[in-house]
Amino acid sequence: MHLFVCLALSLVHLTLARLRELTTITLIARSLEKRGRLTRRTPRATSVPLRNYILGTDLQWYGEIQVGTPPQTFTVVFDTGSDTFGIPGKNCTSSCSNQRIFDWDKSSTYKYIDNGEGLFLQFATGVGVTPANSSDPDWMTMWEVSDTVSVGGLTVPEVPFYLIDFQSPTFGQDPFDGIMGLGTEPDSFFGSLVAQGLPALFSFYLTPHSIGNAELTLGGIDHSKFKGPMVFSPIHPNAGFWSLISNRVVVNGKTTESLSQPHRFIFDSATSNLVFPKTLTESIYSLISPDIAPNAAVPGTYGIPCRQLKSLPAVVDFTFTSTTGEPFNLTLPTTELSIGPFASNKLLCQTVINAFDFQFDPIIGGSLLKHYYSTWDAGNKTMGFAKTN
Ligand SMILES: *[C@@H]1O[C@H](CO)[C@@H](O)[C@H](O)[C@H]1NC(C)=O
Ligand SMILES: *[C@@H]1O[C@H](CO)[C@@H](O)[C@H](O)[C@H]1NC(C)=O
Ligand SMILES: *[C@@H]1O[C@H](CO)[C@@H](O)[C@H](O)[C@H]1NC(C)=O
Ligand SMILES: *[C@@H]1O[C@H](CO)[C@@H](O)[C@H](O)[C@H]1NC(C)=O
Repeated sequence: MHLFVCLALSLVHLTLARLRELTTITLIARSLEKRGRLTRRTPRATSVPLRNYILGTDLQWYGEIQVGTPPQTFTVVFDTGSDTFGIPGKNCTSSCSNQRIFDWDKSSTYKYIDNGEGLFLQFATGVGVTPANSSDPDWMTMWEVSDTVSVGGLTVPEVPFYLIDFQSPTFGQDPFDGIMGLGTEPDSFFGSLVAQGLPALFSFYLTPHSIGNAELTLGGIDHSKFKGPMVFSPIHPNAGFWSLISNRVVVNGKTTESLSQPHRFIFDSATSNLVFPKTLTESIYSLISPDIAPNAAVPGTYGIPCRQLKSLPAVVDFTFTSTTGEPFNLTLPTTELSIGPFASNKLLCQTVINAFDFQFDPIIGGSLLKHYYSTWDAGNKTMGFAKTN
């Protein structure tokens, strides 16, 4: 078995009752013109509506895809923190009982392409806004197949992907079925579209649930979703992730020596909040309030009495450098400081940064991304951000 470790899927505990409350968003199917044998049409940019994983956290988004012939529908997290595309296969039994499973016997275009080794995948981020247990991470096993895949009306034949046949119990609580990686090197479904001429970029409009209309646009930028200019910044060339270097972190207008050092941040659409090393986490919290303290009941998390939140400013500016050399800030507003009360202590509110010391750079997820329209340009190796209202 190969051993891969990837960032991915922050999952929140979910009951089936809550799952039923989620409104279904129907994909607008745009059928492609029938392709002649010699004239393959260049794919055009398309948007996929996203549902927000609500459950009190409002920090997780996922959308629909179709797999097989005739198509079987699944929901996936579009994950910039990994390259893996996987959905449950029909031999994932009890551990996938809450998910839709792919029945390969019902697809005329299905092919088994695994070399018999399978894939073992471990996840560095934990369940929802709860940090991973670093000595007992979540994991899944899967095996490689290929089939026709459609996303947002774009259809690609013979896409290689994985079928999950076992997953650790936390994944069984997801309201979505699988994961579609959108790493810095386009591959699998998106890679095939790029090979056919789709521009090698995609964009996320990750809105709070109250605003809605969240979407992923493959191959383009939806200019109707923001007004101001978009600022682009070069991603770090060798990091293997969508990562940018920040030269300074400023909290409520103040900084410290350690916060004025360069830090490389990974941007991950599938991580719900912020996951930083302990020292960085505590440097930031120290400039917000001395009352933010680790919550021993949930290792890696921090909390503050909820009643103290009302008058507590917590504006965190991350300063990056644009492709033209100008500094720009991505700003986490005060409203993101609390991600809600802990289940085990309703008077204590969990704060936005989890501390987790692992081999990755600090990870910025939904808490910040939901305040910007973002473009992830794998062709130019840049990321673009524009403020949303
Ligand atoms: C983390 O995993 C280890 C090994 O399975 C276990 O002993 C420990 O209790 C776990 N910690 C938490 C907080 O669940
Ligand atoms: C599921 O099927 C695949 C392909 O035949 C096989 O490699 C794998 O071992 C099966 N897993 C289980 C849990 O039966
Ligand atoms: C970024 O934020 C810092 C701290 O609030 C501020 O001093 C600086 O002027 C901001 N930079 C830009 C380009 O807006
Ligand atoms: C990115 O690359 C494309 C070509 O793939 C080019 O047309 C475009 O202007 C570039 N964008 C930026 C912001 O550099």
